[in-house]
Amino acid sequence: MTRTPLAPRRRLAAWCGVAALALAGLPMLAQAQTYPTKSITLVVPFAAGGPTDVVARALGASMSKTLGQGVVVENKTGAGGTLASGYVAKAAPDGYTFLIHHNGMATAPGLYRKLAFNPLTDFEYVGQVVDVPMTLLARKDLPPKTPQELIAYVKAQGNKLTLAHAGLGAVSQLCGMLFQKMVATDLTTIPYQGTAPALNALLGGQVDILCDQTTQTLQHIKAGSVKLYGVTTHERLKSLPDTPTLDESGLKGFEVKVWHGVYAPKGTPPAVVEKFGNALRAALKDPAIVQRMAELGADIVPEAKQTPEGLRSWLKPEIDKWGALIRSAGQYAD
Ligand code: MLT
Repeated sequence: MTRTPLAPRRRLAAWCGVAALALAGLPMLAQAQTYPTKSITLVVPFAAGGPTDVVARALGASMSKTLGQGVVVENKTGAGGTLASGYVAKAAPDGYTFLIHHNGMATAPGLYRKLAFNPLTDFEYVGQVVDVPMTLLARKDLPPKTPQELIAYVKAQGNKLTLAHAGLGAVSQLCGMLFQKMVATDLTTIPYQGTAPALNALLGGQVDILCDQTTQTLQHIKAGSVKLYGVTTHERLKSLPDTPTLDESGLKGFEVKVWHGVYAPKGTPPAVVEKFGNALRAALKDPAIVQRMAELGADIVPEAKQTPEGLRSWLKPEIDKWGALIRSAGQYAD
């Protein structure tokens, strides 16, 4: 087959088109080469000092060294993390605003029927970072000594007992909801802006029970300032080898594990997402971070999950899974 050469005018037009496309890409390329030229905001949907905040600040400090600019944590609390997600979804897609969030990103579309953002279409994905187990705690002077005694006590006391959590869609709330469902007893729930203030309330004896991540609870468990009844994973934890899982303590099938992802507003240039993502992946290899995460009981996810695809392919099935569960329970936040 012979090819007919393009007529000179069409050839010129084609070249102009290619040149225009290349020129249009130049500012982005230049932007990515100089990026970042100022500090970057990493939005945390819960209170300062809590589990999400602790992870974000550790990663941000390491990333600042790689990027040559500060990665500054901003806590935007409320509505189980959905206010922060909505804020980042609408932020300028210029590489200076990112979001770190956990399972709450996947439960939001099920729980909130009116949501100001869509987790599947309003974000660019940077990658997953760490998985964190949870612990079921009570104030230090709650009478039960074992998980079995706790279950009997909760059934007997019912809503005279209080359960703290970090808002509808927070993992502390999901874990607490599962606990109530499994012991078939409703407690009086008290929402906070994050589990940092919720844990303070537990330490102060103002609330009775809290389910929270090891990133915040390990130090208080080791100091003996809270009562620990079990871990929420299927296997026992390296950080708490003598503590039984809730599953082995009579709550068969109890499992909650917290995963965390990093997001950018939709339209953030791919080269910028890649540069930020590379700094994030470098932080996850930083020996100081590796040691800190181990101290906090957090598991750095495998490299394949640290990528945009690793987060994108994880999120959709999680949304479907939680959506089905929430619909079947008929429990909505709005
Ligand atoms: C927090 O950072 O306060 C917690 O992750 C909130 C939660 O329980 O989801």
